[in-house]
Amino acid sequence: MMSPATKYTGRSASHRFQDSAASSCSAWKLLATIAVFLISIANCSEAGRESPSTNASVDRVRKIARVPLPPELAAGEQKYAIFCSGCHGIEGQGTDHGPPLVHKIYEPSHHSDLAFQRAAANGVRAHHWNFGDMPPIEGITSHDVTEITRYIRWLQRQAGIV
Ligand code: HEC
Repeated sequence: MMSPATKYTGRSASHRFQDSAASSCSAWKLLATIAVFLISIANCSEAGRESPSTNASVDRVRKIARVPLPPELAAGEQKYAIFCSGCHGIEGQGTDHGPPLVHKIYEPSHHSDLAFQRAAANGVRAHHWNFGDMPPIEGITSHDVTEITRYIRWLQRQAGIV
């Protein structure tokens, strides 16, 4: 047989349980809302931060790769691949051994076609970068360098440098 006191305690315990269940449920809802809000902020600021630089580099590569090489530059491209790309990289993009020639400092007003002839014939003392000296290129003619230079000027134009 239950005393009123026992009844009362029982009811009050179940009330307490329901109360705390209800409040912890709304706490979870609140946390979930905050989490969704934080994720959406993070996404926004990430998109804002990364897109300009990513687009710039993608555009540059796309510009060079999309336009087919004019046939009269094919010999220059081949000779560039043989004599220069080991250091100056595919499409003049540079390597660990040499700087990119598709670069502002190698536009015609800074480095004329004659600078290309001199570089191939005499080599280059390191002065712009930290790759070391460029050696004179063995077995190359000035006609080869003329063709190579035309090819590099074309790459520079595709990249919007000249
Ligand atoms: C063994 C590596 C190597 C090879 C091969 C090479 N270069 Fe270079 N070249 C360099 C380095 C390194 C520099 C940068 C020197 C500096 O300014 O610090 C350079 C600089 C140049 C420059 C800038 C010259 C100047 O006056 O500042 C030109 C132009 C150039 N190279 C053209 C060529 C051409 C064209 C070929 C192929 C015929 C070629 N290079 C092959 C390493 C190389």
